[in-house]
Amino acid sequence: MQSVAFSVAIVCLLAGTVSGGIVFDRPCPTDIYVKEYFEVDSYLGKWYELQRYESVFEENFDCVQVRYTLNDDGSVQVSNSAYNLFNGSTINALGRAVLSYPDEEPLQAKLNVSFFGAPNDLSNYWVLDTDYETFSVVWNCQPVGEQQSEESFWVLSRTPTLPADTNVMFRIHYIMRRYIDRSLLRFTRQLDER
Ligand SMILES: *[C@@H]1O[C@H](CO)[C@@H](O)[C@H](O)[C@H]1NC(C)=O
Ligand SMILES: *[C@@H]1O[C@H](CO)[C@@H](O)[C@H](O)[C@H]1NC(C)=O
Repeated sequence: MQSVAFSVAIVCLLAGTVSGGIVFDRPCPTDIYVKEYFEVDSYLGKWYELQRYESVFEENFDCVQVRYTLNDDGSVQVSNSAYNLFNGSTINALGRAVLSYPDEEPLQAKLNVSFFGAPNDLSNYWVLDTDYETFSVVWNCQPVGEQQSEESFWVLSRTPTLPADTNVMFRIHYIMRRYIDRSLLRFTRQLDER
């Protein structure tokens, strides 16, 4: 029991890194359009995870929240939390994010996120689209050898459920149709406002 809980916690807590993704028998796609003119400040704050790619399914745990705050050095502190739906216990993981290519113009929404003090040496958090106030769609692909790749995908929301906004739905579905295998998506359970 203990080891099951532990491994699931790791999958959850590494959201934003390579782990927990899905392996595809193809190299990383290169025709990906990432959000431009990215505004880090507007992206800060709390997000709820609504959906993600997941290969491992666990009944008891859900990764529900991530909170981004600005560090003194201009990097972003990443605080991920997961909770056990049955007994309410929470696990947290602290990470750090930096813009992957801060001098790029227009600035692309690509970040290097790492946890547990690991170096920020992977551009592994690409915001494909966000309106900052309602939703964010995040994608990551890392090569696995020459012919395979591991992809991660998250739909984040400022609220535990998305508002019924046609424009927001259109933007999210546009990206899913274009880049995502929906059969591999998992919905994150959100109990209530926390
Ligand atoms: C909640 O359940 C998990 C998994 O069974 C366990 O590891 C944890 O210690 C429990 N926490 C509390 C507060 O009971
Ligand atoms: C982010 O990672 C990429 C490699 O994926 C690297 O080229 C880039 O220099 C890193 N950015 C920062 C700010 O460390």
